[in-house]
Amino acid sequence: MKGVILAGGTGTRLLPLTRLLNKHLLPVGKQPMIYYAIASLRQAGITDILIVISKQSAGLYTDFLGSGKEYGVNLTYKIQEGAGGIAEALQLAREVIPEAGRFVVLLGDNLFMDDLTPYLKRFEAQKPGSARVLLKQVKDPRRYGVPVFDEAHPQLIRCIEEKPEQPKSNFCVTGIYMYDDEVFERIAAIAPSARGELEITDVNNLYAQAGKLEYDVLEKWWTDAGTFESLREAAERLREDKP
Ligand code: DAU
Repeated sequence: MKGVILAGGTGTRLLPLTRLLNKHLLPVGKQPMIYYAIASLRQAGITDILIVISKQSAGLYTDFLGSGKEYGVNLTYKIQEGAGGIAEALQLAREVIPEAGRFVVLLGDNLFMDDLTPYLKRFEAQKPGSARVLLKQVKDPRRYGVPVFDEAHPQLIRCIEEKPEQPKSNFCVTGIYMYDDEVFERIAAIAPSARGELEITDVNNLYAQAGKLEYDVLEKWWTDAGTFESLREAAERLREDKP
């Protein structure tokens, strides 16, 4: 299975730091943020990895990571021009995913302690054309995509509400997604949202409507390090080199 790390976007919630440096290169403990996504994939045995980056700081990724050899992985890079949304960034993976190929997507600002191996195994047992997301209980679900569960089918998500004012659960959909190549057809079927982005939640809702969106709940610590507060928390948690 391949891995895709999405590290585009503008990181506006971390201005002015992100005026100087792309968000995913900011230090978290001893390493730049991007390191942890690579370490998590490698831990799960995934060594063939595409990183989608923006133009900002593009050369610094290769300065730090090179071909990936030093980290035990094989890296390919793609550049997302602009920041048209997570699903737009994901669409850039189309060329590297083989027909019927399954893969895992990590948002580059998601930091976590769980080993992904058991979740990937469950995804591999799912039917082709279905998807799996990982959830986590959070204090303020209004900042995230929030799942609504399917009471008749407890393994399924009925829909996801993106940053709802009145969340229907205290779970969030983390930025860890598992798909096969059918996801590219689903991305092609969505339109930009009110904020002008191709939303991953709209893609996941197409799976949910078809009864094809399963989930697990992460057991250990997780954060998205997109704000100063969560960045500080992540730096405290991730003092060691590996998640
Ligand atoms: O972290 C989990 C949350 O991530 C989910 O609960 C939400 O459903 C999902 O929409 C997303 O929400 P955010 O508002 O946190 O997404 P953000 O725009 O901060 O982007 C998160 C990562 O996605 C970022 O670290 C890099 C990547 N990205 C984002 C955009 C907008 C790209 O690669 N390209 C982009 O154009």
